[in-house]
Amino acid sequence: MCSLSIKQDFKNDDQYNTPKEAWEMIIPYIPKNVTIWEAFMMGNTSSKSMDYLSELGCEVVGSPELDFFENDLGDVIVSNPPYSFKKKIFKRLAELDKPFILLLPISTISKQFVKLLKREFIQMIIPDKRIQFIKGEDPLKRCWFDTCFLCYKMNLEKDITFI
Ligand SMILES: C[S@@+](CC[C@H](N)C(=O)[O-])C[C@H]1O[C@@H](n2cnc3c(N)ncnc32)[C@H](O)[C@@H]1O
Repeated sequence: MCSLSIKQDFKNDDQYNTPKEAWEMIIPYIPKNVTIWEAFMMGNTSSKSMDYLSELGCEVVGSPELDFFENDLGDVIVSNPPYSFKKKIFKRLAELDKPFILLLPISTISKQFVKLLKREFIQMIIPDKRIQFIKGEDPLKRCWFDTCFLCYKMNLEKDITFI
């Protein structure tokens, strides 16, 4: 039997943090009076994601102590997850079946594991520019892939929102 631990799955490339401007983009699509779960912070003390979301007026829960796979917090998951074990993450998202906005490579939408979710609740917010993630203190200057916000059960006006 082959079972990979989270530690083994964990890749250096998963350590890119999200700039504030990415969270600014989605604020209009987050309902007021919900608690956001920044679910992908485990072992990460450099991400300012939770601070940024709080500064933008959101109530946020999350912690570098918490494993996504062992918790279920807040009303809406808002995060930028690791990209190297997305299938495992989507299995858990399907189990939780709760609303989320996740920043992901745009190619994620064509993956088989997205079909684990109820298709009628899947929507996308597509930024008009490439997001430059932050590694350590430094913003990347040339991120080499496009990302979008994959949304679930967010009840947005349009299935695809271009921003
Ligand atoms: C792409 S980084 C984004 C960090 C942060 N969410 C942000 O947007 O700035 C993905 C993060 O997921 C975290 N992570 C990896 N495995 C996790 C797990 N099982 N549970 C929670 N977080 C995890 C790591 O801390 C990693 O830094």
